[in-house]
This record gives sequence, structure tokens and C-alpha cells, in this order.
Amino acid sequence: MPLPKLPGLAGMLACSLAVHALAADAITRITIDAATPGHAVSPLLHGIFFEDINYGADGGLYAELVQNRSFEHDEHMFSWSTVSRGGAHGIVTMESADPLNAKNTHYARLVVSAPGRGFGVANEGFGGIALKQAENYLFSVRARGTAPLHVVLEDETGRPLGDASFPAPGPQWRELDATIRSAAAAPHARLVVLATAPGSSDLDVVSLFPEHTWKNRRNGLRADLVQMLADMHPAFMRFPGGCIVEGKDLTNRYQWKDTIGDIAARPQNWNRWQDAVRSTAPEYYQTYGLGFLEFFQLCEDIGAEPLPILNCGMACQFQSKQLVPLADIDPFVQDALDLIEFANGSVTSEWGAKRAALGHPEPFNLKMVGVGNEQWGEEYFERYPIFYKAIKAKYPDIKIVTGAGPGVDAGDLARYKLAWDKFKSGTPADIVDEHFYRSPQWFLDNVNRYDTQDRNGPKIFAGEFAAHDGVAKRNNLRAAIAEAAIMTGFVRNSDVVTMTSYAPLFAKAGAWQWNPDLIWFDNTRVYGSPSYYVQQLFSLNRPDVVLPVKLDPVAVSADPAQRSAPALYVVAGLDQKTGETILDVVNPSDHEVAAEIAQQGAARAAASVRLTVLTSTSANDENTFEAPTKVAPREETLKISGAIFPHSFPANSLTILRIKSGN
Ligand code: AHR
Repeated sequence: MPLPKLPGLAGMLACSLAVHALAADAITRITIDAATPGHAVSPLLHGIFFEDINYGADGGLYAELVQNRSFEHDEHMFSWSTVSRGGAHGIVTMESADPLNAKNTHYARLVVSAPGRGFGVANEGFGGIALKQAENYLFSVRARGTAPLHVVLEDETGRPLGDASFPAPGPQWRELDATIRSAAAAPHARLVVLATAPGSSDLDVVSLFPEHTWKNRRNGLRADLVQMLADMHPAFMRFPGGCIVEGKDLTNRYQWKDTIGDIAARPQNWNRWQDAVRSTAPEYYQTYGLGFLEFFQLCEDIGAEPLPILNCGMACQFQSKQLVPLADIDPFVQDALDLIEFANGSVTSEWGAKRAALGHPEPFNLKMVGVGNEQWGEEYFERYPIFYKAIKAKYPDIKIVTGAGPGVDAGDLARYKLAWDKFKSGTPADIVDEHFYRSPQWFLDNVNRYDTQDRNGPKIFAGEFAAHDGVAKRNNLRAAIAEAAIMTGFVRNSDVVTMTSYAPLFAKAGAWQWNPDLIWFDNTRVYGSPSYYVQQLFSLNRPDVVLPVKLDPVAVSADPAQRSAPALYVVAGLDQKTGETILDVVNPSDHEVAAEIAQQGAARAAASVRLTVLTSTSANDENTFEAPTKVAPREETLKISGAIFPHSFPANSLTILRIKSGN
């Protein structure tokens, strides 16, 4: 039976719940129209965007504990020091003659004249190696030479916590490995590799991983960081960038073929994201230990559709602006085609066979690729269509993500307009990637920006966004709530806004370049920012279809503060599996807003509401390692009866209501 029509104001006064709402100076009624479901919500709406920025990969998600493991850093001994024990004498030199392979051309040579208790090198990891008590660590090294080697894990005082010994490897490069158990926890340990006899020893790819990585994979990822991603239930993952796809110039653009296979043969690449905190530190590098196979596997593990982004023959337009001449673009296009074959091709295809040889014969079922990062201008629109045509000719079902420049207004307006003029005048596009790093107020002002989007044009991917609050751009609640507000607009328009992802994803405390970020970590700890919880809540509460919802004033308050209260931002939808109505309400104001909620046209009356609230005492509140969940969702259940129920939305809050009907 449909519910009777909602009572008017007079009728509501007779209802005890409504009286409660009015007594609290209610000025807003939220009416959900349950009888006329709207469009389906894009199943890909909420995703993540991974880039190796802020030590997100090396020193972060990628669980390798040795920094500069292959001595390929420009400053070859970066993160390494010389160790001389018990009167040992020797020298360490950097060599490149007869290297391990053509992609890994430097190695360390220890020449020992007096071995004492050992002469060699120590690595301090990424700001120290964090060891856990009784954890196993997987050590390996490529070595050759005449001296036996002794490897020690030691804490910052030099106390040995675990070790392994190897006989002299001999004249050919050999891989030596051992499992070393740490006797104690040590937050700033180091790895020491010593030659223990006179002679010469060459070392390369000196590696140490915890045994326990995500799914205990070799060459694996930090389990705690992946868990944070898995807990978001992202529908897709965009990777590997971002600006690193473009390169400062084309020589250091991201080339996916460099990132697969033996880690010893993945050439290290310069990373443009210089560490802003330790600004005196040398620039940092990508080892590509976290490469495309690992990215695809990660997507598979966390149930996210992969979205790789490819260089389109253009380097960063803020930096070198280097372009591949159109006559030379074929290898770039071929890289894109080969990537699709690597992901999806049969094991008898050239690149499918490589995937199978790497241990993954099953296809990854890639459905989309991005051509270029946030490129703009005529140069982009000369190059991108060549990729589009070639990809569609071979893989018509693959959707292509197209850039619309680095922003959507202000200084980026002309670039953005040019892109959309192209799309409107025949340049093909499936999904257009739009970026906005703007103030919280901008987010509030732009909640409706896609309400008037052409429904017959390309889909929108809000592929990078974050509210930047003031000069300090702190990861505070104010920014998160502004993002929540625009998310209501994304859900409401999710027939056309089909994908969204916050950026950047990760930041390492003490070694970051860009803020705000979704997830902060150090060598042992991790926490989500308030923005993380906004993304997670929207993802966990994505409805299947949108329901119309409207806001009406139902009583004029005598209280001027209430009268001038800014509007709430709301969106509603239906979870078809549970039958629940989902209502998202964002209150960005600095005071509570009292409201009453009504469902029109529902088959049965609402009986209970599961409520999740994200708020805190101040809009400036942030999470920290010491208080990681200061701003985190809290849940409660309300028992209700009748067609209308009251609820007050706290200042600076996102509230998700799951409204369940009775029998
Ligand atoms: O997310 C940080 C950077 O912002 C990305 O690398 C780039 O695409 C954008 O400019």
C-alpha cells in the first residue's frame, strides 16, 4: 500500500515527531520522492587515483625497505654509508663496467685490504628501516666477488637484531637470498652488508622486504596501506599518474614496458615530485618495483577496474612542453595497443604471453585507458585523436579517457573551453577527465555544475579534485565537508558524471611534496584524513538509482541565525539490494540545522534509520598519527514511526541516512 499523502503543516503539528522538529526551529523539510526513481547511478562512480607522489610508491605502498637499492640514484651512494668494523680497511667505489644488465648500469664495489670484523655499506632505508619484533625479513642481493658476505640488521645503536652469512659468490653475478628474523622492534634500523675477507665484491639490487606484505606476495605491497584502499571499496583505480606519466621531458616520461619483469632489469626513472619537506634532499626516483603487473594485481585484489593512463607524445606542459613530432608518434600508439594486449590478450599473443610468463595467464579484463594526463591545446588535439582511432580500430569496446586540461576555470578556462569546443565539434571522446583543486567555497558554489551538462555528450570523469583550504591547504574537516557537498552533485548527476577520484591519494609524513592528501602514513603507521572518510562513505553508500529529493522551508524561525542558515546539500537514492533509501545530507555551516525528513510514495512506512555522521567540534579539526580517528564516522540507529521524522544535522557534517521500511 502506498503511504497516504504527507500531511501539511497543520497535520504535522499533530504528529509528535513533527512537533519535535518544529520546536527545534525547523526550517527545512527534506522530501524524498520514493515513487519516481530517476536514473541509475554509475557503478564506477567512486574510485581512487594512485600516483607516485609524496613517496606514495617507493618508501610507501611498495614494501621495499632499502632506498636506492640499485645505486642508480644520480648521487649513487644516496641513502648508503660506508661501514668499517674492528679495524677493517677498504674502499667503496661506484662502477659501471660489465653491469648486471643494460638497464641497471651501476653497482657498488667493495675492495677490502684488511677485513677486520667486516668492511662494507649500510642502508638507512626511507628515513630508517622500521623492523618489527619476531618478523621475518626477506633479504636478497645480486653479487659477485671473492669475499664471503655477512648481512646484519641492526638498530640505531648498532645492536644486531638478525643476520645472515653467504660464501663468496664467485666471478659471475648471482642472486643471494636469506630470511632474517628480527629479534626486536626497531623504528630506525639499518641494513649492513659486509665483506669479511680481503678481495673485491660487487653488489647490486640490495633488497629487504618484510615477509608479511599484502597477500604475502614477493616484491609486495605494504599490507596496512593496501587495506586502507580496500576499505574504500573503490570501483576503479587510475594509475600511475598524474604528471609522472608526462615526464618533465620525454626521456623521463612513464613507460609501462620498463615496469614489468625482473626488478633488477626495471630501469630507475627520475621522479618530478621533489620532496618539499626535506628540500635539501636530492631528488627522488621511481624504481618501478611497483610496476604495471603489480598495479593490475592490486586492482584485481581490491575489486577496482584498472584505468591506466598513457603518455600521448607530450611532456609536461608546465615544464619542458616537449612534443613528439606527429611523424614519430607510432611507437607511443603501439605502446598503448600493446598495453591492452598485455592486460587482455590471449596467452598466445605476444604481450598476453608476457603476462602469462609473469604468472598471470588470466586476462585482467581492462575496459578503459586514458590518453594523456591533463594535456591541453591544439598540440593535444593533434595527437590524441591518432590514439583514439588506433585503439578503437583494434579494440572498439575499450573506453578512452580524454584530458580537458589542468583545471576548469580561472587561468585554465581557455584550455578547458578549447577542449570542449573540440568535443562539441566532432573530436570523439568517451569520458572527459576534469580536474579541480579549488577552495572549499568553490566546491560549495559548484555543487550543481553538472546539472546542465549535455546528456548526449561524453561522460565526465572528475579525475582529480580536492578542496584546498587557505594557504596551508590543511587536510581538515572544512575541506572534507566541501568535497562531500560536491559529491552530492556527482551522485545526482551520475548519469553523466560516471567516475570520480580525489587526488593525491597518499602522502608520507616528513617526505611529502603536495597537500592535502587522502591518506597519510609513516614507516609504521597510517591514518585517513577526513576527506578519506568522505570518499569511503560515499563509496559504501552508493545507491543504485537516484531518487528525487527537495528541500522546503516549513517554518520561519524567529532566530536570525537559523533564518540565514545556508542550504543543506542533499541527494537521495535507492539501494536495490537492501531496499533502503539512502539520503546524504551535507551541512557546511557552522551551526546545527534542524530538519524533518519525509518519504513520499514509499510502499511502506519508514521504521528505522541507520545513521552515519562525519563531523567534529571544529571545521579546522584534522586527524593525526596520535588521534587518527578524531574525525571519523560514527554510527547510530534511530527508531522512527510515521511518514515524517525529525533530525538535526550538526555543524560541519556529512550525514548518511539509510532509511529502512517496516513490514
Ligand atoms: O595530483 C597531483 C597532480 O595534480 C597530478 O600529478 C597532476 O595530474 C595534477 O596537476
